[in-house]
Order: sequence, then C-alpha cells, then structure tokens
Amino acid sequence: MKIATLLLITCLFPAALRAEVEVNRAMLGMFQPIPEVAENPANPVTDAKVDLGRMLYYDTRLSKNRSVSCNTCHDLASFGDD
Ligand code: HEC
Repeated sequence: MKIATLLLITCLFPAALRAEVEVNRAMLGMFQPIPEVAENPANPVTDAKVDLGRMLYYDTRLSKNRSVSCNTCHDLASFGDD
C-alpha cells in the first residue's frame, strides 16, 4: 500500500521529488519529540486507564456489526498508520 502510494505520487508529481525545501533553521528549535506521556494533573495516567484504552482499541463490539476495531484500520503491527 505504501509503495503503491509512493509510486502513484512519483508518477503524478515527479516535480515533488525534485522540489527543494527551504528550512528555516531558526524555527527548527520549535519542534521537539512528543513526550512518552501527556501528563495532566487533573486526569493522571494510571495503569488501569492504559489497560482500558488498549482493551477498547482492539474491541470489535464498538462497531455496528461487531467486526471492526480501531486496530482494523490503525493496525499497530504496522505502526497504526497503514
Ligand atoms: C474504517 C477505518 C478506521 C477505523 C475503524 C478507525 N479509524 Fe481512525 N482514521 C481512519 C482514517 C482513514 C483516518 C484519516 C482521516 C483523515 O485524515 O481525514 C483516521 C484518523 C484517525 C486519527 C487522526 C490521526 C491524525 O494524524 O490526525 C485518530 C487519532 C484516529 N483515527 C483514531 C482512531 C481510533 C481511536 C479508532 C477506534 C475507536 C479509529 N481511529 C478507528 C480510519 C479508521
């Protein structure tokens, strides 16, 4: 899927591969890796909440015909973005 998408982009927009991107070095400092955990003192992360989130993520009962979970489309085996 990803290779097909790349091929499609390459064929349709060959200039996109040659395009030079100007990077404003002064602005690079604005970007940082996202934190492992987004702390919220009003709603602290607990193991129980993480377990519940993981359970819901894989739960097909959330879909109308009980066959689709978040992981169906956002398969974590392929980093959730395929
Ligand atoms: C039927 C496929 C499908 C299912 C099931 C699905 N998603 Fe998505 N999800 C998508 C698609 C496609 C997009 C991108 C939509 C867009 O960019 O317009 C998306 C986008 C997202 C985004 C935004 C990502 C970003 O970079 O902005 C989040 C967060 C997300 N989904 C979470 C979930 C969660 C949580 C579930 C389960 C409750 C779920 N999705 C179930 C297909 C799905």
